[in-house]
Amino acid sequence: MTLHEKYKDYFAIGAAVNVRTIDTHKDVILREFNSLTCENEMKYGRVCPDGKIYDFAGADAIRDFAVSNGKMLRLHTFLWHNQTPGEIFEGADKETLLATLKAHIGKMAERYAKDIYTVDVANEVIDDKHGLFFRDTKWYAILGDDFLDYAFRYTREAMPNALLCYNDYNECDPDKSKKIFDLVKGLRDRGIPVDTLGLQAHWSLARPALDDIKRAFELYAKLGVTLQVTEMDVSLYPDRDAPAYVAPPADVLKKQAQFYKDTFAIFREYKDIMDSVTLWGVADDASWLSNFQVKRKNWPLLFDDDHQPKEAYYAIMDF
Ligand code: G3I
Repeated sequence: MTLHEKYKDYFAIGAAVNVRTIDTHKDVILREFNSLTCENEMKYGRVCPDGKIYDFAGADAIRDFAVSNGKMLRLHTFLWHNQTPGEIFEGADKETLLATLKAHIGKMAERYAKDIYTVDVANEVIDDKHGLFFRDTKWYAILGDDFLDYAFRYTREAMPNALLCYNDYNECDPDKSKKIFDLVKGLRDRGIPVDTLGLQAHWSLARPALDDIKRAFELYAKLGVTLQVTEMDVSLYPDRDAPAYVAPPADVLKKQAQFYKDTFAIFREYKDIMDSVTLWGVADDASWLSNFQVKRKNWPLLFDDDHQPKEAYYAIMDF
């Protein structure tokens, strides 16, 4: 039995893929996962690097791979402060930026809506710092407090059959989880169509504590939306400064397996409102964590550098 088969009565099991891994990691993807997210290829800055001309080659390749292999597909993402063409903000006022956002959503919907079950309409708009609510971005500066209202309404209109998701990280931090809760609750109370909350779950062996995860899930379950774990990985390092391992120590891999086991047990408790759990990558040889932020080899996923199942894999298959 494979991962997505084991979880078929619980939630879909996803992986973030890119134009390279749909080839190099094809066997594992096809066997173990039934939902896919483009790691980069559907982001605004990838499909439209200069804010004008669209190039859908990468996104199309992954969509075609998903559709021809019967995999579900998430769309990541429309409104984000990263990987977005700077040109769209130049000299823009609220009216012109809204027209640009609407046109972008329309263009993506026209091409992909029929193959998408969830779209990350907005990503990471909340500030991590205590006391601040919205992150200081050009979207927010130009559009103002109701910027998400437009993004969600435009998306509902253009993609009426997709679940509309607000996606963020540090989602189990007590301070930030309260802000995420308030944001989604506020939107829904105003009649804005938010259907699901995306919990990125970029975690490590040091944090978050299981109790914080449980508390956050309890809180989010009160929102009346479904939940999706959207970008899970579990770094072996406690912080940015920890020295790199040459090879992953056996006791650390054991701890990682236990952490995956404990967290998947929590996810299963919420199966009635949990649509999917997506890993941010397929196997340890191709994880963003080894290349960005800190250049340090990491082993955060369920499959090792040779695409073989790790202890973490067996741990979440054992229930
Ligand atoms: O493609 C170029 C390559 O040509 C060039 O040689 C190389 C040099 O650095 O860069 C390559 O592009 C990189 C791209 O990943 C593809 O590997 C970009 O520099 C790099 O910025 C980009 O990083 C992506 C990151 O988002 C950008 O913010 C990661 O792959 C991607 O995993 C990561 O994903 C985000 C989610 O979208 C949102 N949540 C957090 C998550 C992790 O940061």
